[in-house]
Amino acid sequence: MNFNVEIQKLKDLARQAADVIVEHDFVRVISHNDADGLTSAAIICRALMRKGIRFHTTIVPRLDDDVVDTVIRSAAEKDLVMFCDMGSGQSDIISRIKQEIVVLDHHIPVGESPARVIANPHLVGIDGAMHISASGVTYLVAKALDEENTDLAGLAIAGAVGDKQLMDTVNGTILKEAEEAGVISVRKGLKIGDGDIADVLEYTPEPYLDITGNREKIDEFLDILEIKGKISELSVDDMKKLTSAIAIKLVKNASPEAIDASIGDVYLLNRELVNNVYDLVAILNTCGKMEKAGMAISICMKSREHLEEAQRMAVDHQRSIVGNIRQALGKLQKGDNIGYIITRDMESTGMVASTMVRYIDPHMPFVAVNQVEDLVKVSARGTRALVEKGLDLAYALREASREVGGEGGGHNIASGASIPPGTEEEFISRVDGIVGSQLGKSSED
Ligand code: C5P
Ligand code: C5P
Repeated sequence: MNFNVEIQKLKDLARQAADVIVEHDFVRVISHNDADGLTSAAIICRALMRKGIRFHTTIVPRLDDDVVDTVIRSAAEKDLVMFCDMGSGQSDIISRIKQEIVVLDHHIPVGESPARVIANPHLVGIDGAMHISASGVTYLVAKALDEENTDLAGLAIAGAVGDKQLMDTVNGTILKEAEEAGVISVRKGLKIGDGDIADVLEYTPEPYLDITGNREKIDEFLDILEIKGKISELSVDDMKKLTSAIAIKLVKNASPEAIDASIGDVYLLNRELVNNVYDLVAILNTCGKMEKAGMAISICMKSREHLEEAQRMAVDHQRSIVGNIRQALGKLQKGDNIGYIITRDMESTGMVASTMVRYIDPHMPFVAVNQVEDLVKVSARGTRALVEKGLDLAYALREASREVGGEGGGHNIASGASIPPGTEEEFISRVDGIVGSQLGKSSED
């Protein structure tokens, strides 16, 4: 599909957002705590600094009434309020804000928005779940503010990688521009962070292999291949040997997106403190989860102060995700149309659900239900093939959670919800039914 007309329309929206921004002296930025939200915030902060516009940034896990209260308390009448990676689906909540609002987002718009401009791919016929993330949208706004902001493209691509997006169409145009400007270089190989190959294979959750987390098996695997040392220093031949051996492991169960996510183009961010995009994404997601968003933003603003601590935290966090996945593998349940787990106190249910559907059983979407204190949080993930067959997890989770007194949403391929404790089984059965009808199956099939 040729997206040129749509990309131009999105750039027009970005230009409108930039025009509103320059009318203001101060921007109150609110963004999301994952890699996409953090890179979005950093892109806009770096662009505002360049323009001499002052700002105050707050990173939140979700946009709710409390966040709106904080904005109302902390923004002056003439400030511009900007939501990044959120805001399109919460028109009713943000309507309480009296200041001018700009939304830079890639979630499906819901309701009548009070925002003066919404720069969102869905409004111009581009699927924001796959083709451009919030960081990409924010990058287009930064470019509309100043052509020199091409140097921020590394952050835009890191956000898209964090959101597991496709690197073609809109993301592809950003990538091409960045490569031409020398902001990003591409090398072929294994799409993982840098470091000693045995260590990295042990703690990296993606690609999830039958040796992940098992040092003995990893050593055996690498011994047979006669490969050792730092990944970025492997010879071209060793890298080829390694990727082929991993590809063979993946063909057994994995989905096409697992193979895409594991082998191919590795992006090196020449203008960022962290060169390897997978390392940067892991650091940002970790900082976001650990409520250290300030550390994440400062790294994206090129301050070295917290870098080493963040790198250590990211390795530990990835180890714990691998632990979560292994734990989940022992608790798998199957409905008619979905795979699921019902569990407690897991840290990374999003990664667990994504690993299950990508690497363990791609034939069914996976739903992870996780109780932490009094809140039951749900993460659901699908594949592109299932979405092509009609799967819409955002709809399924929104409806099923509403029916049990919760709320949810997101994208067709990846969505989340919160539900009241005690409703887990009922919720799962409703999701199972909705997914069944989306995929054209009856529960007896
Ligand atoms: O809030 P947000 O839109 O950024 O979250 C999207 C989530 O969906 C991310 O956690 C991303 O990793 C996940 N995703 C996925 N598979 C895809 C696309 C997105 O797991 N194909
Ligand atoms: O939390 P998780 O990463 O699984 O969220 C996946 C997607 O669902 C994200 O885009 C997130 O913004 C969305 N979501 C939502 N409502 C919730 C929880 C998550 O719209 N209650």
